[in-house]
Amino acid sequence: MEKIRLGIIGLGQRGYGLLKDNIVKLQEYYNVTALCDVYEDRIEQASKTVVENGMEKPFGTTDYNELLMRDDVDAVLISCAWEYHVPVACAAMKAGKAVALEVGGAYSVEDCFLLVNTWEETKVPFMFMENCCYDKYELLATSMARKGVFGEIVHCSGSYSHDLREEVTRGKENRHYRLRNYLNRNCENYPTHELGPIAKLLDINRGNRMVSLVSVASKSCGMEAYVEKHKDTMNPELIGVDFKQGDIVHTIITCAGGETILLKLDTSLPRYYSRDFTVRGTEGFYEQAPNIVFLEKDVDHTIFESTTSVVKHLNNGKEYEEKYLPDIWKNITEEQIKSGHGGMDSIEFIEFAKAYLAGEEMPIDVYDAASWMVISVLSEKSIAQGGAPMDIPDFTGGKWTMRERRDVVPM
Ligand SMILES: NC(=O)c1ccc[n+]([C@@H]2O[C@H](COP(=O)([O-])OP(=O)(O)OC[C@H]3O[C@@H](n4cnc5c(N)ncnc54)[C@H](O)[C@@H]3O)[C@@H](O)[C@H]2O)c1
Repeated sequence: MEKIRLGIIGLGQRGYGLLKDNIVKLQEYYNVTALCDVYEDRIEQASKTVVENGMEKPFGTTDYNELLMRDDVDAVLISCAWEYHVPVACAAMKAGKAVALEVGGAYSVEDCFLLVNTWEETKVPFMFMENCCYDKYELLATSMARKGVFGEIVHCSGSYSHDLREEVTRGKENRHYRLRNYLNRNCENYPTHELGPIAKLLDINRGNRMVSLVSVASKSCGMEAYVEKHKDTMNPELIGVDFKQGDIVHTIITCAGGETILLKLDTSLPRYYSRDFTVRGTEGFYEQAPNIVFLEKDVDHTIFESTTSVVKHLNNGKEYEEKYLPDIWKNITEEQIKSGHGGMDSIEFIEFAKAYLAGEEMPIDVYDAASWMVISVLSEKSIAQGGAPMDIPDFTGGKWTMRERRDVVPM
């Protein structure tokens, strides 16, 4: 079978992690031919991993333009810092390379249009690599929604709830981009892990679209408190510094179909990881954190009226898997489950490769990327103006009214 000759741009936590845990195990689909990072040591580490896994030594460079000029690269995985996502993706498309773009928010509305316009000019395969669109719980609930089980969908919510205090405050030592963002911006800076699966479920850009948002941020004191608590080992430049990023950011999006979407960014106070993917319909709901399916037709709702009865139903989502879980999850292997983020990364990279090799439409396209990434920019503006409403552009130029549904996997 033909393989994708892959270049990787950005070999930090994610780029190297994907290489080591997924891509070298997917050699049926991928041959890594080129690597790029601004740091030589990261190129060397990744190059060694490629060779140890039986592939030829890849070309290495600190300049992504050099990688993009090569004839032995069909596609690039862009896993560099957020600020470079759009320029690198556009340069790649112009060089005729297929793009697998890692997630993150954007910095300007113009950048999002640039991404869309460049794709429309070049039409190279482009996929926004939102792995959470492939997770088990999001797909279980989406499959149930597709079968009408929840009735008419009215509201969805989700969060990026992840204690990043260590990652952000150790940013200088780890050469990580998040630190500068948390010091200088106040916005929903990472919307797509929760928004992606919701947007897919609500057919955003395909019969529906996001029309406007409001965004509100709490004060910022989580990072400051963490720095103070760890000041003996902390980068001295951070002691006494104010971080601009609010600790909790809520964003409410209104859709053309009348649905609302609530997003929460929650990354600088103590807590456990959660995406809180929640679907609310006229006949029932799904909540990811406790993995609860509630269908009015099946359950006497009075048992849900106290929190102690909720505990009895924790994880009852399992009972719905046999009937509704998409096959891709029913057939997942142990090796895939162990290979990063519980299996969703492996599924995502197989789906990208299959679509590329078959010349098929990508499951998460440039219109999805632009409309999900722009939320960061608009939330920043809304927060700065005291929660003022912001219009969300229609990146499809009106085509959302006629574009057909495209689920990431068969439901
Ligand atoms: N989907 C997921 O689950 C997931 C998880 C983690 C990170 N990410 C995404 O992956 C991306 C990288 O995150 P990370 O945590 O690995 O960050 P990181 O800072 O550890 O790695 C980014 C790497 O990109 C390199 N880089 C930056 N600018 C570059 C340029 N112009 N040319 C070449 N290399 C450049 C940096 O030197 C660094 O090694 C981000 O977009 C992030 O949002 C996704």
